Parts: sequence; C-alpha cells; structure tokens
Amino acid sequence: MPNSSKASPEQYAWWQTGIIYQVYPRSFQDSNGDGIGDLPGILKRLDYLDSLNTEAVWLSPISPSPMHDFGYDVSDYCDVHPIFGTLADFDRLLAALHERGKKLILDLVPNHTSDEHSWFVESRSSRDNPKRDWYIWRDPAPDGGPPNNWLSFFGGPAWSYDEQTGQYYLHQFVKQQPELNYRNPEVLAALLDAMRFWLDRGVDGFRVDVIWLMMKDALFRDEPLNPAWDGINPHARLEHIYTANLPEVHELIRAMRGVLDDYDGRMMVGEIYLPNAELMKYYGAQLDECHLPFNFQLINAPWDAQAVRRMVDQYEADLPPGGWPNWVLGNHDQHRLATRVGPQQARVANMLLLTLRGTPTCYYGDEIGMADVPIPPEFIQDPPAVNQPEIAHIVGRDPERTPMQWDSTANAGFAPAGVQPWLPLAADYQERNVAAQSMDATSMLSFFRSLTGLRQSSKALTVGDYAPVDTGAGDVFAYTRTHGDERYLVVLNFGVHVHLLDLSQISAVADIALTTNMQTTGQVDLARLEVAPNEGLLLRLP
Ligand code: NOJ
Repeated sequence: MPNSSKASPEQYAWWQTGIIYQVYPRSFQDSNGDGIGDLPGILKRLDYLDSLNTEAVWLSPISPSPMHDFGYDVSDYCDVHPIFGTLADFDRLLAALHERGKKLILDLVPNHTSDEHSWFVESRSSRDNPKRDWYIWRDPAPDGGPPNNWLSFFGGPAWSYDEQTGQYYLHQFVKQQPELNYRNPEVLAALLDAMRFWLDRGVDGFRVDVIWLMMKDALFRDEPLNPAWDGINPHARLEHIYTANLPEVHELIRAMRGVLDDYDGRMMVGEIYLPNAELMKYYGAQLDECHLPFNFQLINAPWDAQAVRRMVDQYEADLPPGGWPNWVLGNHDQHRLATRVGPQQARVANMLLLTLRGTPTCYYGDEIGMADVPIPPEFIQDPPAVNQPEIAHIVGRDPERTPMQWDSTANAGFAPAGVQPWLPLAADYQERNVAAQSMDATSMLSFFRSLTGLRQSSKALTVGDYAPVDTGAGDVFAYTRTHGDERYLVVLNFGVHVHLLDLSQISAVADIALTTNMQTTGQVDLARLEVAPNEGLLLRLP
C-alpha cells in the first residue's frame, strides 16, 4: 500500500480509488412480491449501479435472522436468509458483480448473535454447557437486579435475566442480541472461520458492525455518569468507558486483519463512532487493523462551511502516515442527508463527499435526494423507536430505510402492484424517482452521475493531494485537489447568499467541470468568481 498520495495511482487499491455504495437489501428491489427486497432484485439492478460509477456494493446483513434488528441479529453466519434468497443467488450476484469489475462488501456482525443462533441456544441451556462462556453471563447483583449499570443503545438495561439458569446475559442492543465473549479464544476462532467461509466464496471485504464495542471491561465496573448528557437519549446518560473502545479490542482486529491478508485484495471497513484521537488507532500501529475505520464526522457536523473546513483539515492532520482517509454522508442508522441539510445543500454535500481526498461511501437513494419518510405509529418497526416511543422521532431509523424509488408506477417499481412494501413509500415517489431523474439532465441523479463520472476519471480527484483555500467568505469552503499537472478547485457555498470571491492567488481563470446547477462548460475569472446561493463549483485549473 502506498504511504502517500505521491505514489503512482497504479499502486492504489480498489478500496482507495473506488466509491462504496451501501445497499440496504430489504429496501432495494423486491423480485418475488413479498414486499421485501432480495438478492435477485439487486442482481436486476446492476446496470443502475454501473450508471452510478460506484466500485463496491456493501450489503447490510443478508444472513439468516429472526429480524429483531433487521438482520443485525444473525442466527447463522454462513448462510443467506430465505427472505433474501439462497447461497446460489448470492454466488450469482457476486459473479455478476465481478464480471463487471465490481466488488462486494458484506456486513459482518461479530459483536453479538441472535438469541436463536445455535451457539446461544447451547450457551443458555445450562451453566456447564461447553458454550456457556461463549457469551457474557453474570450473576445477579445482591438485590437480584442486573449485575451493573450498563445500558442498551435501544433503551433499558444491557442485561436480561435468564430464568432457567439464574444469570443475566449482556446485550447492548435488543435482548435478542446476546453479546459474544471474545475473551474466550474459541469465539474468535469461530468468527475467523465465518470470515473465511465468505472470503473463500470470493467476497471482497467486510463492513464490520460496531467493531469498537467488541471487548468489555473484565471487571464489569459501573460506568460513570456523562456530565455532558443532553437529557434526551437515555443511553447517553453514561460515559461508555467500560463497554466501548477497550484497548484489548485492537488485538482482535489484528487477528481479523490477519485472515483478510491471507487473501488477495480484500479489505475491511470498521464501524466506529469515536473522536479522531481514538479513531486513528483503528488503522493499527503498523497499519495492521482496519483498512478504513469509518469516518462519520460529516454526519453529525454542524452544516457550516468553516466548521466543516476545520473538521476536514483536522482529520487530514490526524491521519497516521499511510492511513487512507474516508468520508460518509449517510447510512441506515442516520437521518437522510436531504432531511438533515435540505435538498439544495444535499448537492453541495455530495460535491464535498465526492471531491474530498479519501474513499466515499454513499447510501442508496441519496443520489436521487430521498428524504426521511414519516412513518405512521402503527408502521414503526425499528426497535429503538418501538421501545422508546417518546423519542421515536429522534432514534427511529425506519424513515431512512424506506423502499428505493425506481419509477412512478405502483410501489415505485420496488415491488409489484398490490403488494404492501415492508415500510411505507415516500409520498413524493411519483416525482422523485430514478426513471424521472434519468430523463432530466438537471436532476440530482444526473448531477450525481456527472460528479462520480468526473471523479472516477480523474487522478487528482481520486488520489490527488488536498489543500484548503482561503476564500474570505465565511459561508464558502474551497480547496484544491492536485495530482501532477492535473488540478481541480472546488468551491462550495454552504449559505444562501451570493458571494463574489477573488481566488486569483490560485490561477487567473479556470474551466467549469461541473456545478451543482448542472453547468458543464464555460470559463470563469477567478479574480471575480461569483458563487450563487447553495452552489458548488468543480473547476479545472489550467
Ligand atoms: C450498528 C448497525 O449499523 C445498526 O443498524 C445495528 O442496529 C447495530 N449496529 C447493532 O448491530
């Protein structure tokens, strides 16, 4: 792996130069009329994925699961849930992606299994079962309550009592997601075998669920109160110093990386919500942990040009030597981009994501500007929302998981007419859909395709150096991307006012490559550069 952007692009790996596109399989394309998306459905949409110029598809979990957390409660690591298809369907999809030169990343959920996984069924069957210690079991506190004060992300305590064996087991999500005990080496060995199962089939990588939570305090100490708690989400009431980001987790991750390194060209991207100083440790001291520790900062960022500039500069400065950057604007756990920043800034945000240095991860539907869909109370399915109705609008994730909007026919082309999709469709699907936007040269989708097309054909935009540019306007964030003689200038107006900028320190003139208003030709005078409200400019420098 190159350790600076000055290395020749030929040395870069696919996960450095390519765009990752997250498909939430339940919501992408239903091929069999049960209202739930599936693998044959995804297979039918490969031309669409090609048209987005994305390199890798990341599939949220497809393994057998009772679906208490929509697949993040895995009951068999080495199979496909019948709702999504079969292993043969999976092999077909993988082969078809590979034929097109694309990659497939699977979601790997090592921290917990379903309570229906055979390992847990055995573990809970008796205190002396050989798999008892595969999960985290503790005696009740002296008053009979949970062993300590640890909390579930989805509301309530992180412990559930098992009547039959008289102990509590740990689960930081729903109670049907018991946590594995990685202090037992047999558990790690079993996980590594599961990874090999998919790697042998040809999978190109894993997105590893809550990788930073995989180890817990060996002494099971109470967590302290969080002095900065905003009083909203009960889980944030405590500082999670004993359930997250334990130093021992890095040894596990190195073992996982060791398995990947036994194969050619594979990668892992870890789900980690931590500040830079801690996040960077997940690259590994010898770059021997995650290829990409997910960088979620843009998701929670105040949408302000200077704040985002400071964040980008700080992230660039904090990267370890050789650590490859990455950026994310949305996923299945976060409110939709278009809802967070508004439809106009959604274009600016995509221009940012797709021109920053580092691997971008895009969430299905954001390319057509899908917004959060209000879910009527009787249709709410996501556990944190079901368990905590008073904060469902904040913690519920159904709104960002609704069916993909393909066309204006019944069920938006996601499922056959007459079928009830598993979540309601957006009210605007007849106007906001792939078919309509494909015919409109000024649409969000056309913009996205032009942007990704430019990015993927440019060394400067994929692997070039990043340098911020002072604009003199608080609302405008600008930067250059440079590779050899190829240079781009990106100018992003986060505000609603016109700005007249003098950027002649960069160059006298520049050619328009693409603007958020879909201008693709023309020349600008950088001494008098006018940037419209909510406008982003991608300019080619001479
Ligand atoms: C993170 C996943 O992204 C989320 O959807 C899931 O609920 C939790 N991990 C538990 O697996």
